[in-house]
Amino acid sequence: MRIDVVSIFPDYLAPLELSLVGKARREGILDLQVHDLRAWTTDRHRTVDDTPFGGGAGMVMRPDVWGTALDHLLEPSTSSAAPGATTLLIPTPSGAPLTQQDAEELAGRERLIIACGRYEGIDARVAEHYAQRPEVTVREFSLGDYVLNGGEVAALVLVEAVARLLPGVVGNPASLVEESHSTAPGGGLLEYPVYTKPATWRGLAAPDVLLSGHHGKVARWRRDQALRRTAQRRPDLIAGLDQATLDEADRAVL
Ligand code: ADE
Repeated sequence: MRIDVVSIFPDYLAPLELSLVGKARREGILDLQVHDLRAWTTDRHRTVDDTPFGGGAGMVMRPDVWGTALDHLLEPSTSSAAPGATTLLIPTPSGAPLTQQDAEELAGRERLIIACGRYEGIDARVAEHYAQRPEVTVREFSLGDYVLNGGEVAALVLVEAVARLLPGVVGNPASLVEESHSTAPGGGLLEYPVYTKPATWRGLAAPDVLLSGHHGKVARWRRDQALRRTAQRRPDLIAGLDQATLDEADRAVL
């Protein structure tokens, strides 16, 4: 998979050289490139923004600079011209909330470009224009209902959420199945609490059932805990569960 990230603060993306994402890059599983938007400016001051039409506070990123950058990255030498081959992702607090399902979908794409806005955001015609190009799918996404200073942190989050789903990135793929927000059958719940040695720590004992060696009982306990925790912390997820996936024991917990 190829991912290009464009930002006026490319150094913000330095953590993408670390840990599992960095290793995936070095192993050639992920071809990730970070670009400085200012490389595509043409004036002496390397201007990327201007005042908003209609007035108001702050600055807006200019569509012409973004257009030059994105056209360059979309040139046939660097991407396929097949319909929808490239997904252009624009982090913004006014986007649709990013979900695990989105991450799974994006992990199956050939090419992602992440356009990190700053200030009051990117001129809306950029998303509008690229949505009209047959080789591009545009997705404006949000990390949550709060405002960050720019799209860079959201780009870090997106790359990590997607990269860990690429084959060969996470050592034990089974660990992707049981975690919170898994879209695998029986998923859609928050993960159950986990414990390790010592069996008692500061007077707190790990649950006996986990030391019993009884796999069936452990599985049932974990499922009960996941259901309880989700009902308490994220009732919206319980409301969205497919009722057909719940057995009698599940219903007894809820
Ligand atoms: N840029 C600023 N705030 C953001 C948010 N909440 N999600 C994604 N991108 C953003």
